[in-house]
Amino acid sequence: MRPQHDVPWWKRTTTYQIYPRSFCDTNGDGIGDLRGVLAKLDYLQALGVETLWLSPFFESPQADFGYDISGHYAIAPEYGSMDDCRELIEQVHARGMKIVLDMVLNHTSEEHPWFLESKSSRTNPRRDWYIWRDGERPGGKAPPNNWRSMLGGSGWRYDEATDQWFFASFLGCQPDLNYRNPDVKAAMLDVVRHWLREGADGLRLDIFNAIFKDESFADNPFSWRAIPSDHNPHGFFQHHRHTIDHPDTIAFARELRGVVDEFREPPRFLVGEVFGDAESLKRYCGEAADGLHLVFLFKTMGTRFSGRSIRALVEEYERVFPVPFTPTYVFGNHDRPRFAHRIGKSREKAKLLAALQLTVRGVPFIYYGEELGMENHDIPLHEGLDPVAARFGFVPQWAASWMRRHGILLNRDECRSPMQWDDGPNAGFAPAGATPWLPVHPKSGLVNVAAQEQDPESLLRCYKNLLSLRREQPALERGALEWIEAPGLPDDVVAYRRTSGEGEGRQAVDVFLNFSRREVSLDLAAHVGRRLFSNRSGERRGVPAAYVMGAYEAVVVFDAR
Ligand code: GLC
Ligand code: CA
Repeated sequence: MRPQHDVPWWKRTTTYQIYPRSFCDTNGDGIGDLRGVLAKLDYLQALGVETLWLSPFFESPQADFGYDISGHYAIAPEYGSMDDCRELIEQVHARGMKIVLDMVLNHTSEEHPWFLESKSSRTNPRRDWYIWRDGERPGGKAPPNNWRSMLGGSGWRYDEATDQWFFASFLGCQPDLNYRNPDVKAAMLDVVRHWLREGADGLRLDIFNAIFKDESFADNPFSWRAIPSDHNPHGFFQHHRHTIDHPDTIAFARELRGVVDEFREPPRFLVGEVFGDAESLKRYCGEAADGLHLVFLFKTMGTRFSGRSIRALVEEYERVFPVPFTPTYVFGNHDRPRFAHRIGKSREKAKLLAALQLTVRGVPFIYYGEELGMENHDIPLHEGLDPVAARFGFVPQWAASWMRRHGILLNRDECRSPMQWDDGPNAGFAPAGATPWLPVHPKSGLVNVAAQEQDPESLLRCYKNLLSLRREQPALERGALEWIEAPGLPDDVVAYRRTSGEGEGRQAVDVFLNFSRREVSLDLAAHVGRRLFSNRSGERRGVPAAYVMGAYEAVVVFDAR
């Protein structure tokens, strides 16, 4: 067995996602900026997260708020300058923290100079940098084949001037790059290397599952599935056989791993945005764990709040991602309904899930504001700035609300409302007098950082306590997970032991999570002499022989050190 200290940092880390536009605006233009992130580093360090992932802040016309890049080596002026970016990376590192940048490899903005050249004529040297085809004969006025975009409808866009079609996996303003052209691949690997050289500790890979399309351009088969899900990304009555999860994309994951492994001090990591069941996601990690280091596992967001369902989820992740693989625990991001809604906005349930996320084996991803229990902001579809809201503008509001309850957000503005710092103007997100790019949530006067820092019972304090416990206890940070099968424990209680080290250095931490609103008695006689932590009070104290867990309580019994 490898010695414990050999476990690479990225397997032990805790990650916090910042959507820069919504985090903190320092110059009053209503748009969050890099100096805003700098200003909040103390907060993030005190919260106790190690790794910050920032959604893209590169040059972009912002048609998809940064996921449409028009310059990979420049910073969008509304977010700041290259100097700000370098200062941010430096300051993050000075605090012993890490930074993950968002790489949109699959596509560029339609305003990227490459695309402007590519579409300028059929003979332009960069024509082949994107995926161009003739339309279907006769007349060429029908798309080249039936491939749909991930948002439904044909993925092909017609270009009048050159009388050909180009393919876009997501929105039409985001043409897909042609990775079958070696120059494209080389250019994008240069981008990757550039940001690693600039000091990125990790890269998040946007819709990585779409990178390679099948060379045959054969039609995708019909499917009865209407609506895609995390578990099964096929939909809009099509099985995306030739457009997602292509074997060449899986191979590319390994190639990219090789590039990232060129950077050793410190080691860097890749986390992929891919969709599907756990088994198919794992293929991206490589059979010999030689592909992407991590993939987002989104099933958490669709899992029922019950002991049985949560245990089944953890069991599945443990089975599919055993050491040396590492699962991830994700409860939200900038595309999904805020998690608070799934649990009826209950603070106690949120605390319990935080305890799960921060004590189970895996890398947690916390979306900004989740630590406060920030809620979705109800914004009618037709008011959405999000291009996806415009795309689905025809959907009646009741249907959009229904979909949101089922985890699909048609207006992603709703989960991107400004971070709630205090009860002052603009919730402290932007200076007084500024107009935030999205309205602040009406509850920001009550739900905010300043208020929760004062309140020992708050969700924020609970996250802080859990994060500090996790840092102190190597078993929580890096240990193996085994189930505790105690006679008499009801199904509602999820109980596991995390262990690390051997012999004298062996450490075991026991976790009990009560998913019911009933009290449950725990027999802790075997643990007397150790310490106990509860998510209810955050306090640490000696272990009594018998303990009555309250509704939704999490109890962690750990080493007395
Ligand atoms: C990913 C991003 C999303 C973006 C899309 C296209 O799903 O998370 O925000 O709109 O890719 O880049
Ligand atoms: Ca600003």
